[in-house]
Amino acid sequence: MYFDSHAHLDHLRFDADRDEIFAQLPEQGVGLLMNVGCDLRSSLQSVALAHKYPFVYAAVGSHPDDAAQLDEARLALYRQLCADERVKAIGEIGLDYHYEDPTREVQLPAFRAQLELARELALPVIVHEREAHADGMELIRQFPEVTGVFHCYSGSLEQAKELVKRGWYIGFTGVVTFKNARKAVEVAQWLPLDRILIETDCPYMAPEPHRGRRNDSRLVPLVAAKLAELKGVTPEEMGEITTENAKRLFRI
Ligand code: NI
Repeated sequence: MYFDSHAHLDHLRFDADRDEIFAQLPEQGVGLLMNVGCDLRSSLQSVALAHKYPFVYAAVGSHPDDAAQLDEARLALYRQLCADERVKAIGEIGLDYHYEDPTREVQLPAFRAQLELARELALPVIVHEREAHADGMELIRQFPEVTGVFHCYSGSLEQAKELVKRGWYIGFTGVVTFKNARKAVEVAQWLPLDRILIETDCPYMAPEPHRGRRNDSRLVPLVAAKLAELKGVTPEEMGEITTENAKRLFRI
């Protein structure tokens, strides 16, 4: 069984065939799924999907792109949503210095405020961190009680080693199947089996041979298969291991 630990099936690119995708997940062996919010709208939709489908759970939060919208009122709404038993994490939150829109001066306090919320509610976090490695690590060091997953991992092996030491998990998308995926492969080869999560990050990051097309959770077994090859286990074993890891992290 496979657990897609990071999906955005609320995305409008699934409006035409969302129900069909959910209906086909069991036959692909995908038995659990975390739908992740990026802003208030997608957080609310994630909670709604988690109530519609028994195998779906929700994370709520503001992505760095939405950091300017994270005020006290928004935080209070997220706090309320977290009282829902189907909400298992705060996310996705973090830092993105690739586009830096909004600026890091806006992103940093939004990330900090949501780490504080996770600490207050004793919930794990789902972190998006792109080209902001130093600031991202500096902030999570200030919250030793908070752990979670660095999703679609793009950092170094050194950073991964520190994250694992601090009790964090590392999430891999279809990027690990790409021919030029040297860094992700190096990290996956080192990473202890009990810290690996698989994810689609759909509609983005489709694995080979679907690279560049719309991704969806039916393709998460391809990510597991690549990691299985790197770790010398079967794809089914990788599915079971990463399912147990996600259930442990999200307390499912
Ligand atoms: Ni995402």
